[in-house]
Amino acid sequence: MNLFNVYPLFDIEPVKAEGCYVWDKNGNQYLDFYGGHAVISIGHSHPHYVNKISKQVSELGFYSNSIQNPLQQELADKLGKASRKDEYSLFLCNSGAEANENALKLASFHNEKKKVISFTNSFHGRTSLAVAATDNLNIVAPINETKNTLILPFNDESALENAFKQNDICAVIIEGIQGVGGINIPEESFLKRITDLCQSYNTVFIADEVQSGYGRTGKFFAIDHYDIEADIYTMAKGMGNGFPIGGLLIHPKFKSKHGMLGTTFGGNHLACTAGISVLEIIEKEKLIKNANTMGQYLIKELRQLSTTKIKDIRGKGLMIGIELFEEASSIRKRLLFEEKVFTGSASSKNTIRLLPPLSISKVEADLFLENFEKVLK
Ligand SMILES: Cc1ncc(COP(=O)(O)O)c(C=O)c1O
Repeated sequence: MNLFNVYPLFDIEPVKAEGCYVWDKNGNQYLDFYGGHAVISIGHSHPHYVNKISKQVSELGFYSNSIQNPLQQELADKLGKASRKDEYSLFLCNSGAEANENALKLASFHNEKKKVISFTNSFHGRTSLAVAATDNLNIVAPINETKNTLILPFNDESALENAFKQNDICAVIIEGIQGVGGINIPEESFLKRITDLCQSYNTVFIADEVQSGYGRTGKFFAIDHYDIEADIYTMAKGMGNGFPIGGLLIHPKFKSKHGMLGTTFGGNHLACTAGISVLEIIEKEKLIKNANTMGQYLIKELRQLSTTKIKDIRGKGLMIGIELFEEASSIRKRLLFEEKVFTGSASSKNTIRLLPPLSISKVEADLFLENFEKVLK
């Protein structure tokens, strides 16, 4: 049987990974500045993570959401502390798209409205509502098309104010920092305007922190860089360090009802164990502070490179975009095949995304800078 061919693939087969490095089947070592698409938060194969998951799978890998599973509460307690959102509640699911899908449903259950605002260059996932709120017509199937989503210009306060005038907006969904779109940072005043309008019009403010959350930007959530609170935060990528898990942090004003949301696999024993061990390592190794320090270092050094090829450096913490004056694909390929460095692409073709594990040290940062400078020359 063939695989359904939807992914363009690099001809590299990783067989082992540790910390910030990956090895292919031929024994080549790669520096991982892509983190398997912003997923690797604590570093590959962390011994605490490996031990906890191995022990859990040998005892109980899975049982359904119809029984007591204290691991879910343990994860919620740890998450409440790490995010400083202890008063919020947690719903667990399996992916970023599912987190956003549930957030949008919950918003509509809550205020009984239907229209969703999202923004240009957004990416919220591939399930029906999430993809309808995503600014990429190529991945919206006819069955996903809806009049209920409005994609407004990013950072445009007057377009936002106009859209609210009908008083029928159910939710505004915005990425903490746009990832797939090319590392675009929402302005503080724009986020504040969203918060104010959502409060005035009984609209739900959803922060999509699937990529920008879990400490990647040097704060637990990217919007924590400002004095702003969302009604719902969605999370996934860094949450399980590769084990599929997603979740929503839900403000106390939302009332739950049995059966309102649900999933077979969400919050299973293995996923919770992965999530708990990730938070333990983030705390013990102070990885959020490290993401902040290393991010500032990388951004400063990148801005000082003597090259005419770089147009802009954007980002916070270890979510960094390097925009070139030319298309980035050949530079990325040379980094990968000649220098053995993984980086990420973006839908804006001139931008390279850096999304390394939050555990990188100055050694890895310097190694990246050295290789990047070499390839630019
Ligand atoms: C901001 C954001 N939201 C949602 C998603 C969808 O996540 P998943 O691929 O886990 O469904 C992504 C994935 O790249 C993302 O970057």
